Parts: sequence; C-alpha cells; structure tokens
Amino acid sequence: MKPVEIKEGVHWIGALDPELVVFDIVIPTAHGTTYNAYLVQGNDKIALIDTVKAQFTEDYIKTLGSIVDPKKIDYIVINHTEPDHSGALPALVDFVPNITPVFSNTAKSFVNNILHKEFSPIIVGDGDSIDLGGKTLKFVSTPFLHWPDTMFTYLEEDKILFPCDAFGAHYCSEKRFSDELDSPDEAYNAFEFYYKCILRPFKEYIVKALEKIKDFDLDIIAPSHGPILRGNQLSYLDSYKKWAYKEKDPSVKKKIVIIYVSSYGNTAKMAKAIERGTAIPGIQTTLYNVTEVPMDTIVDEVEISDGIILGTPTLNAKTPEPIFNLISNLVTLNVKGKAASVFGCYGWSGEAIKMTEDILNSLKFKILVDSCKLRMVPSEKDLKGCEEYGRNYANEILKL
Ligand code: FEO
Repeated sequence: MKPVEIKEGVHWIGALDPELVVFDIVIPTAHGTTYNAYLVQGNDKIALIDTVKAQFTEDYIKTLGSIVDPKKIDYIVINHTEPDHSGALPALVDFVPNITPVFSNTAKSFVNNILHKEFSPIIVGDGDSIDLGGKTLKFVSTPFLHWPDTMFTYLEEDKILFPCDAFGAHYCSEKRFSDELDSPDEAYNAFEFYYKCILRPFKEYIVKALEKIKDFDLDIIAPSHGPILRGNQLSYLDSYKKWAYKEKDPSVKKKIVIIYVSSYGNTAKMAKAIERGTAIPGIQTTLYNVTEVPMDTIVDEVEISDGIILGTPTLNAKTPEPIFNLISNLVTLNVKGKAASVFGCYGWSGEAIKMTEDILNSLKFKILVDSCKLRMVPSEKDLKGCEEYGRNYANEILKL
C-alpha cells in the first residue's frame, strides 16, 4: 500500500480489505473494512502504532519500509491484541529484532501467547508517556474497548488520538479521511452499525473513556478501522456520547419489554394478558411480536429495559428460529443480571420454554419468576393466570 501522510512525521501504513463480507464470523461488512496502522517519527525515536491482519503482513512491512529503515524503528505500540491488529506482530518482531513492544499490563498474557518468545516490553498505564523527540505518545487505559487489554494512544503535539477499535467503522474507501469521502452518509451508517455490533456491550466503559479524553485537544481521531476522522466528523464523538449515555425516560420508574412469536395466536393471547398484568404504577411495558418489528428497535428497547419477558411456542420440540435470532442479537448488549422470564403456549410437549430459559441463564440473564406455560387454547381462567404472572413479574421488577 502507498503510505498516507496524516501530519508531518505521522503516516497511515495500514491495509485495505474491500472484499471482506463478514467480520469476526457474525458481523456483516457491506463495505469491507480497513486495518489502520500508523507510523510516528520523532526527532530521536520512531514508533509504530498497531499492525494489521496476518494476511497483509508482507505489504505492511513493505509500506513502512518505504518511509523508514525498519531496523531503526524503536517501538511497536500495541493498543489492542485482537488478531486483526496483531496479525503482523510476530513477523515484525522477527524483522526488527530490537523493537520494543509497548502495551498495557492486561495485554501481557495476550502478547506472550502471540509471540511465544522472550521479549522486553514497556508496560504502560494511564498517563504514562514516551518521548520520541518533539512527539510525545501519551497512553490512556481504556479496558474493554474492545478487549480487556485495550488502551488509547494520544500524540500530544499533533493532537491525534489513536483509539484502536473505538470510533472505527467497517468501511473501506480509497479515501483515507472522513472529510474526503464520496458518500459520508453511508460511512456514518457503517460507523453507527459498528458501534451497535462491537462497542455497545461495553458502553459503561465508553462512558469512562469519554470522561478520560474529554479535555484532550483533538485535530484528528485515527481509529484502527475505517476513515480517519477530522473536520466536521470529529463530532462523531458526540454520537458515542448520545449512544453510550442512552437511558430510559427518567419519568419511567421501571421498564419491561415483552417479546413474543406466535404460530396460531395463542402465545400472542398470553402476551397481551401478561402485558395487562404488568400495568401497575411505576411500570412501563412495551409489547413486540418479533416477526413484525425491526430487530434494531427491539434490541434498542431491551438495552434500556429493566427486564424482558420472552414468549415462545414450541416447534419440533425446540425454540423456533425467530426467538433464537432475537437472542443472538441480544449478545450485542451487556445483559448480565438483566431480569428475564419465559412463557409460551404449546401443542405437544412445550420444550421451547425450558430451552429458552436455559439459554437466557447461560447468557447470565437473571430469571426473575418461574415460567408460565399453557397447552393449546388458553381459557379465560388461563388468561387471568397470565395476568397474575405479569403482575408478579412487574412487582419483582419494582423491587430491583
Ligand atoms: Fe478490530 Fe477488537 O479488533
């Protein structure tokens, strides 16, 4: 790749992957992605910031070698060790034997298991810095953005933040900078989708990171995926603030989301009765048929809810696909300890209710009240029982 100068002495030396259609097995990448890596030249020392995915190693070494003599590179700053950023690390360390890896304390075991050899790192934490001579790299501990190892690197003199995965997008373009893109709206949509898929489970850590960088003077944000943000796109930081600080309406004491699917309308009748039961003071309830509402809407509501209730019929002794699909989408949230319960109407045997409850348990939801299970067509008395189940659940939610 041709390097791109970001500021004097600072270059993008990453890789483009426009053909990538799925990232990390499950995340569709309609616009491919990039693996951004950077080279920073001070008056005295030279540092690399992150590497690239393994398949682009040869090109990465060639690119950096087109700017500097690789043997003169002093540091490789490893903001995050996931293989899309550390894939070229073993080859780099072999090629530049005197290079010093710089990373967080948490990253040490990850790097050990990447390099499998003796090396002498510099371990850095919040506020530590390395002076390259007229260019100072300052480190900010930002765990869980997006692994426990992660840190941001800030180049003080040039006002450039290198936040690795944070503020990135799976968006590949021939243009490196956000203010040069032909389709900025398309790129922003990719930026939002990336947040929802990758960073959203860690939003409390985003809040902490935003707090740590709030007084940083920023000209450029240079993430490890997608466009380098500058100009008006620096306001994308505000989008992270809006998404990460998103809470339910403060006038609502507690919020419940009931989500169901129904084959013949019987689980739907249960859902509506349960909704009536939850209608007690202090509780706001939303009811969704998962096949009729965009998944994004449901996931957004679950994110700000205090508890969920899932309704599922049983199909061939299993949970049907729409409920599996819903649950697989909930992995983009931090659901640990979130209250849940399961109900459903069945014909033969009703295995889906227990199966769904077991999955929610394994995802660390907290099953708040026992499930509610009916056979065939609910009677009026059954539906009164569903109302009671909903009321019990709501009362338990109020106690949380
Ligand atoms: Fe882009 Fe968490 O790796």
